[in-house]
Amino acid sequence: MNYALECRALRVSFGTKTTLDGLDLKVRAGEMFGFLGPNGAGKSTTIKSLLGLIQPASGEVLVHGVSPDHPSARRRIGFLPEEAMYYRFLTPMEILRFYGDICGVERGLLTRRIEELLKLVGMWEVRNRQIKTFSKGMTQKISLAQALIHDPDTLILDEPTSGLDPIARMDLRSLLKDLRHQGKTIFFSSHELSEAELLCDTIAIIKNGKIIKTGSVESVLAGKEHNLERFFIDTIKNADGGAR
Ligand SMILES: Nc1ncnc2c1ncn2[C@@H]1O[C@H](COP(=O)(O)OP(=O)(O)OP(=O)(O)O)[C@@H](O)[C@H]1O
Ligand SMILES: [Mg+2]
Repeated sequence: MNYALECRALRVSFGTKTTLDGLDLKVRAGEMFGFLGPNGAGKSTTIKSLLGLIQPASGEVLVHGVSPDHPSARRRIGFLPEEAMYYRFLTPMEILRFYGDICGVERGLLTRRIEELLKLVGMWEVRNRQIKTFSKGMTQKISLAQALIHDPDTLILDEPTSGLDPIARMDLRSLLKDLRHQGKTIFFSSHELSEAELLCDTIAIIKNGKIIKTGSVESVLAGKEHNLERFFIDTIKNADGGAR
């Protein structure tokens, strides 16, 4: 089977420290996949490996069957980083035009696409305001529009809802569901099992650079649905004899 995203026995080290320890991950095309784990578990490192930003010590990463460095892989991926860094004096229009150009979106199409995306994320009204005047949630919405600018098949989102208030979270969830229904593959990291439960087809829980549980939300949560936070904490504590 050809997966949208795949890590095979992925090992990543920083100096003498092993951060990803033979990680296996398979994300099917068209699914919403939640990647869960505590701080420092290796979520962002896995994501950077999927984007080709980190070279593994061993193992393999495939994006739609090819290396993440391959131009076709880059075209098919949209990425929302843990924390977006923009020049503060730019406006959403300028940011999206800049990224659209980098991604090779043709000019006429880009103008239409920017309008469509800014309306989709509810930021059309503030399209000409400098980003330095934006709240975290507003900036996050611009980041999402940026990730979608070249109409990628697959979205990789590093903690997309962190720092958002409940309304903004709900809006983002419904946007992600819409994108999923349009056929996009969505892979996102989170600390929160409850979030993944609301959205995902499949989840994986990572701890100390290893996947300790994976499967459909129903199979992973079987019989545990009444206290998700307790389940998540117990799962993390019980793996590897509780060492963190
Ligand atoms: N560039 C780096 N150099 C050295 N160590 C790093 C580097 N990047 C990550 N690490 C280490 O790798 C481990 C995993 O970090 P990572 O950022 O992948 O975790 P995470 O699961 O995304 O955590 P969080 O939920 O806090 O974002 C941590 O121990 C971190 O200190
Ligand atoms: Mg992280």
